[in-house]
Amino acid sequence: MEKYSFEETNILKLSRKLAMETENLQVFYGANHAMFDASLQFPKNRITALIGASGSGKSTYLRCLNRMNDRISTVKGKIIYQDTDINQKSINVYEVRKHISMVFQRPNPFAKSIRENITFALKEHGIKDKEILAERVESSLRSAALWDEVKDDLDKSALALSGGQAQRLCIARSVAMQPDVLLLDEPASALDPISTAKIEETLQNLREKYTIIIVTHNMQQASRIADYTAFFHMGHVLEYDKTNNIFTNPKIKATEDYISGNFG
Ligand SMILES: Nc1ncnc2c1ncn2[C@@H]1O[C@H](COP(=O)(O)OP(=O)(O)O)[C@@H](O)[C@H]1O
Ligand SMILES: [Mg+2]
Repeated sequence: MEKYSFEETNILKLSRKLAMETENLQVFYGANHAMFDASLQFPKNRITALIGASGSGKSTYLRCLNRMNDRISTVKGKIIYQDTDINQKSINVYEVRKHISMVFQRPNPFAKSIRENITFALKEHGIKDKEILAERVESSLRSAALWDEVKDDLDKSALALSGGQAQRLCIARSVAMQPDVLLLDEPASALDPISTAKIEETLQNLREKYTIIIVTHNMQQASRIADYTAFFHMGHVLEYDKTNNIFTNPKIKATEDYISGNFG
C-alpha cells in the first residue's frame, strides 16, 4: 500500500464546537486489525458521512462510537464525548446510548404498535405521564417526517408500515429519547429512491437539533446531505474534509479513485 501522511489529511482543525471525537481509535477482531488509527472530529449540528469500499471499516468505526462493538472486538484509543473518554470500562454503556443513538441498515421496528415503538424505551426510563408520552410520540414522528402519514394509525402494528416508513419510525424511536448524536449505518440502502429522498430530507431537518454521523456507500447521497466526509480505506481514515473538497478536490489518489469509481 502507498504511504500516506495521516496527520495532514485526517484531522480537520474545526473551529466549530465538537459533538464528539475519536483519538487513535484501533479495533481488533481477534488477529484481524480492522481499524488502525482513526482520529476524527464531529462538529455539532452537522452531518458527517463515512464513505469507502465494503470492508473498509465504516460500520466497525460507527459501532465503536456508542460502544456497540465492545462484545465482538477489542477497541483501543479514545472516544471523547462531553470532555470524557467514554471508551473506559467504568463508563455505563446504556447511559452512553441514551446520548448517542444508532439506527441500523435494515429497519427493525418492534412487533408493537407505532405508538408503543416510540413509548417503549421512554417508559423503561420511567416516563409514565400520558401527556408527556403523547407529546413525545407526536414530536418525534414529526421530526422523522412520518406524523402526517401515521397520525390516525398510531395503534396499528408497526409491522404493517412500508420499508421507508418503518425506517423513519426507527429514526423517530431514536429521536424520542432526545439523544445528542445520531449514528446511522446505511439507513437507506434497503429503500427505494422515493423513500431514500424522504430519509435524506428527514436528516436535513434533524441536523438543526442533532449531530449526525452516517455511513453510506451512496456517494451521491453523501454529496447531497453531508457537510463533512471521511474516506475509509482498509481500516484507515485516509482523508477527512468538507464534503465539497472531498468530491471536487480530493488530496489523495485513493480518494479520487474511489469517488470516480476506479476502485477494485
Ligand atoms: N462482527 C465481526 N467479527 C469479525 N470481523 C468483523 C466483524 N465485523 C466486521 N469485521 C471485519 O472488519 C473489517 C471491516 O468491516 P466493516 O466494519 O463491516 O466494514 P464496512 O462497514 O466498511 O463494510 C472487515 O475485515 C470485516 O471482515
Ligand atoms: Mg458496513
